[in-house]
Order: sequence, then structure tokens, then C-alpha cells
Amino acid sequence: MTRISLSDGSLAKLDVDALLVGVASKGRSIVLAPGSESVDKAMKKRLASALGDLVATGKAGEVTKLATLGATTAPLVVAVGLGPAPARGETYSAEAIRRAVGTGVRALAGTRRIATGLAATNGDGADLTAVAEGAVLGGYAFTKYRSRASSGSHKKAAGTVTIVVPDAKDATAKSVVARAVALGDAVTLCRDLVNTPASDLHPADLAQVAVEACGEAGCEVEVLDEVALADGGYGGLIGVGQGAKHPPRLVRIAWSGAGDAKAVHLVGKGITFDSGGLSLKPAAAMEWMKSDMGGAAAVLATMRAVAKLELPVNVVAWVATAENMPSGTAIRPSDVLTMRGGKTVEVLNTDAEGRLVMADAIVRAGEEGAAAIVDVATLTGAQLVALGSRVYGIMANDEDLRGEIVAAAAAAGEQGWPMPLPDELRGSLDSTVADLQNIGDRYGGMLVAGVFLREFVPAGTPWVHLDIAGPAFNQGDVHDYTPKGGTGVPVRTLLTWLEGRAG
Ligand code: BES
Ligand code: MN
Ligand code: ZN
Repeated sequence: MTRISLSDGSLAKLDVDALLVGVASKGRSIVLAPGSESVDKAMKKRLASALGDLVATGKAGEVTKLATLGATTAPLVVAVGLGPAPARGETYSAEAIRRAVGTGVRALAGTRRIATGLAATNGDGADLTAVAEGAVLGGYAFTKYRSRASSGSHKKAAGTVTIVVPDAKDATAKSVVARAVALGDAVTLCRDLVNTPASDLHPADLAQVAVEACGEAGCEVEVLDEVALADGGYGGLIGVGQGAKHPPRLVRIAWSGAGDAKAVHLVGKGITFDSGGLSLKPAAAMEWMKSDMGGAAAVLATMRAVAKLELPVNVVAWVATAENMPSGTAIRPSDVLTMRGGKTVEVLNTDAEGRLVMADAIVRAGEEGAAAIVDVATLTGAQLVALGSRVYGIMANDEDLRGEIVAAAAAAGEQGWPMPLPDELRGSLDSTVADLQNIGDRYGGMLVAGVFLREFVPAGTPWVHLDIAGPAFNQGDVHDYTPKGGTGVPVRTLLTWLEGRAG
């Protein structure tokens, strides 16, 4: 991940390899965003017209590079589009800044030192947050599996982004950067885990990452192996995992930052590979199923950030992890599983496995008297049908809690949208032999899965379910600060929500 530093020097005089400035559209012309003044002055006030000559329009996502020919210490100015200039008295939105900086830092992959003055855009500290976040989010590259990491179009992430602020020693500025770095570190961890092939990330490996990444940050981490899971009656995890050579795990990660207050619980789906099991997926649908542990990766990574930032909250996260494989020992369509807590489920489709492992973990969170449960899962293809590839679904048994998550997503710059859990869908989950069956109504599949999970939440416990099937993994092209592959969604929502709970 790209590093961040602060400077209160003049941008034009900083000894770096490239300067990042913002440019916005205003009618048919362009305007420079605040923070580029020293560079413009060094270029005899001709920066905007030079960018105009290079056909910069200021639209979001646009990158225009300009050699400074000695006018500034850095040899290169990179202008990133911010979109339309704000109306008089208004400022650029945090997301516009985040995306512009992310775009610039991504476009400068392979560059050692970048500097920007964009944090001066609105002067209330929010701008610095957005610039720092954009830099850490855009400064990402997954190079582990490349034999020549720095060559061709697959460059390493930019080295350092120096952000020019009025006072580099200011305590608030420093803490804003520390927080952005912790957030970037968590998003990076989540993306790396999602991008790692399933052959290198079996359930026991994911559990070990939790032990190391969260343990080192100060969390208490406990791993239940397949023997403990069988003893504890975790029929969902055992059933889903029984076809695989690599057995399931349930990981409990705890952070105690608020004495003996009741903890909020996070639950993540950690299917390290979803082949569908005996209800086998077609080959094309399996291509990105290494990402089916995106929910688990997100809650694990969030816990690391919570601990690093020493948030005054009590949080427990559950990583419910298994590999869903077909074999002679795999669960069959029509098998009945007894879940943690005693409910029975008839498995009619072994590809609806996520809800089975999630149910066990939700029950366990409920047993601990969770103040609230937030579960995160790449649960249904129906999420993509309903909301597209970038917007995750937010379902709940509690309107207030759902509202908190919707607000946290918006504040964090992630796209999540509230969805209902219609009671009439429950009947479609009635089984002819067991308490429930794991598939129901053909329509509204995302909601059906949510209704299934709701059955395992104790009465009176506020619960929210995030279906991140599409948003966890970018199958399309890079955009803004979002790389291909693992996106890190919804780490920023979860961290922002927990920061809010912390007061
Ligand atoms: N992991 C998949 C959901 C998924 C699909 C995630 C596409 C990311 C991209 C999940 O386990 C699954 O297979 N769900 C089934 C449920 C169905 C059998 C009721 C689905 O959505 O097809
Ligand atoms: Mn599946
Ligand atoms: Zn799955």
C-alpha cells in the first residue's frame, strides 16, 4: 500500500517525482481546484491554459500529464478530473476528492514519490481525510503472483504520497492520517485475501490470518477446528465443509475497548471456494468463487483496524469458513442438517451453502448476547440482478440499525442500499421434512436468503444483513480507486459504523 506523509512546504518546491493537482469543469472551460496555487505560480499562471491545450476537461476519471520543464522541482504535473466545479459557497464532495486522488495515484503506479495540495480544497479537515483515503485506496496493486512485478502494465503501487497541509505537525492532521492508514491497511488486507487463490487460502489458512493479523493488533482470537465444530453441533459448517479435503473453521475475534458493555457482533461468510458442491456451478460461474470469503475477509480486516485505532467499543467478529466441494463425502441435495441451536435444515441445493455456515455463526453470536449483529456475505447471485455489481443490499429486522448502516455506507463512500425482508417469502422456505429448507421462492432471491438468516437471529436482537456478492469483487475494469478483483467492500462501512458507535 502507498504510504502517506504530511508536509507544510510549497508544493512547487517539493523534491518528488510527480505533483497531483485537481481540475474541474465549469461550463465549457476548466478551473484549477484549490491546492495547486504554488504550481500555477511557478508556471507563470499558465497551468490551466496548458491543461486546456492538452484537452483536459475536468471530468471525473480524467488524467492529464504535463511536463513542468524545470518550473517546479518535480518534473511532472498530473491533473485529475474532479467533475463539475462546486457552486459558489459549496465545496467538492468527499467522494469526488477520494475518487480523483485515487485515480491519480493509480495512474501513477510505479512512481516513487507523489505530492498533492488537494487537501486545501475545503479546509475543515474532511478534505484531508478524503485525500488520504483516496491515496491509500488507489495505491494498491496485487503483485504476489507475478514473476516480474514491476514490469509492463503491472506496476507496483506508488511509493509515497506527500500531502501538503498548513501545519504538518498539527495533531489533528496526524490523527486523520493515522486513521486513513489503518483503514487503508484493512482494505488492503481484505483485497489481498479475496484475490488470493483458493489453493493458497483454505479455511485453516484464513483462520491463521485472523490469528496473526488481528492477534498482533491486540484482539483475542480463538479458532474452533472441525472436531470442536462437530462437538459443538455446528451442523451448517460441518455439512458444507464435509465434501472438502480441507476442513472448516469458526474463528472468534474479540476486541474489548469499552469495559464490560455488551459487544456488537460481526459475522462473515468465509467460503474459500464455492464450487456449488454436488449442485455444481457451471465453469464460468466458478471463475471468481475464490472471492466467496469476501464477507469474512471484511470483518477480519475491520477488526484489525478497530484494534489498531483502539476504538472504545466492544466488538466480536466471527469468521465462518469452509470449502464447498463435491466429493463422495459431500452433502447431498435432500440431506438434513441440524444447525447450532437445534434447528433442522433440508439442503435442497448445495450451492445455497453460505446461509448454512452463516446460520451457525449467527446463532453463536446470539448465544453470547450480542447487542447487535451485522452479517456480511457474498450470499446470492440475485443481489447482482437486483442492485448491480457495485451496490450491496442492506436487509434487517430493525429499521434503526439498518438506517445506521445505510448512513455509514454513504459517509464512507461505499454504495449500499436498503432492501426489505417481506414476511410472505418465509412460507417458501417451509420443508416437507425439516424445520426449514435452504432454498425458497425463485424471485427475490437476495431477500429469500435474508429471510432464511432471520430465522436464526434471537428475538429482540437487532440484526442487519449485507449481501455483497457483486460489490466484493470487481469483475469489470478498474475505476476511480477501485482495482480489479477484491475491492475491500464493505470494510469502510463497518469501520465508519463502529466509529459512530464509539461516540
Ligand atoms: N456464492 C454464491 C453467490 C454469488 C454468486 C456470489 C455470484 C458472487 C457472485 C452463493 O453461494 C450461491 O451460489 N448462491 C446461489 C443460491 C441459490 C442456489 C438459491 C445463487 O445465487 O445462485
Ligand atoms: Mn453457492
Ligand atoms: Zn457461496
